[in-house]
Amino acid sequence: MPLIEWNEELELGYRPIDADHRKLTEMVNELYDYILAGSSMTLIHALFERLVSHSVTHFRREEHLMEESAYPERLDHMAAHHHLESQIKESLERFNAGERIFSLEMVQFLRDWLVIHIKTMDRNLSDYLIRETSVK
Ligand SMILES: [Fe+2]
Ligand SMILES: [Fe+2]
Repeated sequence: MPLIEWNEELELGYRPIDADHRKLTEMVNELYDYILAGSSMTLIHALFERLVSHSVTHFRREEHLMEESAYPERLDHMAAHHHLESQIKESLERFNAGERIFSLEMVQFLRDWLVIHIKTMDRNLSDYLIRETSVK
């Protein structure tokens, strides 16, 4: 069973955002599978690097949409992105410095952050974009 089961609570109805979220969900599920299976650090590291890079790209995409549409809650939303972004970049640096940072707790933290963020801040943003812009 995947760590994150995709369901309609995660599907927000704004396609470019949903597509990114599906990809990020798949990557967190893959990271969980790798850790459970005791995969090599090389594989786990490569996947985590891709996850960090996709997260950053996704955050910038949402932030661009917020700026373009003058989204009223953009400062709080951007602050939440920046906080997570610095945490995952720091994890990558610690790994590069030789620390064994990958654990089930770490991947569960990522799952919780992603699911809660999608259901709250991203849901509000998507609802606003659907309401205020013509693109869906
Ligand atoms: Fe977001
Ligand atoms: Fe998002």
